[in-house]
Amino acid sequence: MQPTLHQLKVFEAAARHGSLTQAAEEFCLTQPTVSVSIKQLSKTVGLPLFEKIGKQLYLTEVGHQLLSTCQSIFGELDQFEMLLSDLQVKAQGKLHLAAVTTCQYFVPRLLGNFCDQYPGIDISLIITNHQDLEKRMMENRDDLYILSHPPSYIDLKVQPVMKNPLVVVAHSTHPLVGQQEISISALNQERFIMRELGSGTRYAVQSLFNKHKIKAKIKLELSSNEAIKQAISRGLGISVLSRHSLNGQENSDLTILNVEHFPIDQQWSVAYLSGKHLSVVAETFLKYLVAVSE
Ligand code: PGA
Repeated sequence: MQPTLHQLKVFEAAARHGSLTQAAEEFCLTQPTVSVSIKQLSKTVGLPLFEKIGKQLYLTEVGHQLLSTCQSIFGELDQFEMLLSDLQVKAQGKLHLAAVTTCQYFVPRLLGNFCDQYPGIDISLIITNHQDLEKRMMENRDDLYILSHPPSYIDLKVQPVMKNPLVVVAHSTHPLVGQQEISISALNQERFIMRELGSGTRYAVQSLFNKHKIKAKIKLELSSNEAIKQAISRGLGISVLSRHSLNGQENSDLTILNVEHFPIDQQWSVAYLSGKHLSVVAETFLKYLVAVSE
């Protein structure tokens, strides 16, 4: 049988006061209750913890050993309690965040401002595609997830944060540049640079193409939005990208084509598993994200 924490606390008080009566007062117990508790503890240890000489109570050798063990256990517990209250009050610790690749254009910027406001928070940010993100959700790997179209088969709490329009991007010398209302069927003639399978962007594009019976000629598959921009600049084809991927774009080689049914209106959301107990750090970031996106 293991000693209980309560027995150890009563023993420590009795040893500190050198008196069962005073230990009883400290815990609002009766003296006989304290006496029984210490007897039970001695029985568990297998040796007497106190000896009484005259009216004076003395710790035995093993009593001294147990007292010093109690002091270090209670010291550690005190430290843990302090750490806990720090975490609760000051929002300190690590945030585990995972976001789809299209978020690479706004999440790091937001994190910069957030870190300035909360210097006690460290962040791990995983950028990956939609399919991988769903897998991470299933494995409960992160605190919060940012993505478009959170899966309905996973029980999630979801808050929309920002629009993510998908646009057709071409080289600025492309013959369709400047045309108004380009028919979507015109895309049948184009060389397409497509995101990899598992990408949410690809899924959205493919769904639109299926709906309008567009058979895109996929010449190149790339898993990076930046690499796709480079490929368009090199004249390898056209693609569909998040409009955010063009923001602040120095490269004037790229332009948006005015194709019917575009932009595809998507929305990024922040999500977390319904049963998840969010840490103070994660709650703090969630509130921050929702506030800045409003
Ligand atoms: P992805 O992002 O194409 O990087 O998978 C899709 C999304 O915005 O959810």
